[in-house]
Amino acid sequence: MSTQLPEVAVGSLYDQLAAELEALWAGERDFIVRAANMAAVLFWRLPEVNWVGFYLRDANELVLGPFQGKPACQRIPLGRGVCGRAAQQGKTLCVPDVRQFPDYIACSAETRSELVVPLYFGTCVYGVLDIDSPVLDRFSPEDMQGIERLAALLSAGSDEGRLRRYYRF
Ligand code: SME
Repeated sequence: MSTQLPEVAVGSLYDQLAAELEALWAGERDFIVRAANMAAVLFWRLPEVNWVGFYLRDANELVLGPFQGKPACQRIPLGRGVCGRAAQQGKTLCVPDVRQFPDYIACSAETRSELVVPLYFGTCVYGVLDIDSPVLDRFSPEDMQGIERLAALLSAGSDEGRLRRYYRF
């Protein structure tokens, strides 16, 4: 796998990633399995990212799930940081400069911009997908839409009941 795809338009990159993930998952319904491979695919295929991972809702906290990158914060209270706020509001948060984000939780000194997309089963937010970049203003509206689309594919093929036996959301 290549770490850079400079000649590929953002839209078609997400088309490719959607196809790659569906092929890789191949009907596998366990969320942890799907999320672990999704973190790896995004980490190795998206240019200029230094951390990709999941935080899953367990009552009033987000707890660290499958990820790629350096070790990270393990628990984030709902409503705190970019992740906690995205989960509480149920909205994608794109932070062009993390130093300007009030209540930013710095897991890595290298991170300059961040994209956090909530994960839904129906209307219920059960976690977030967090993508960090060492580059200021790394994420475009196309990245937001592309990642939201991939997050929806992840949820659509995952077994909600199995995940609920472990996490409280
Ligand atoms: N920066 C995040 C915390 C998670 S790490 O970036 C991996 C936040 O403010 O919620």
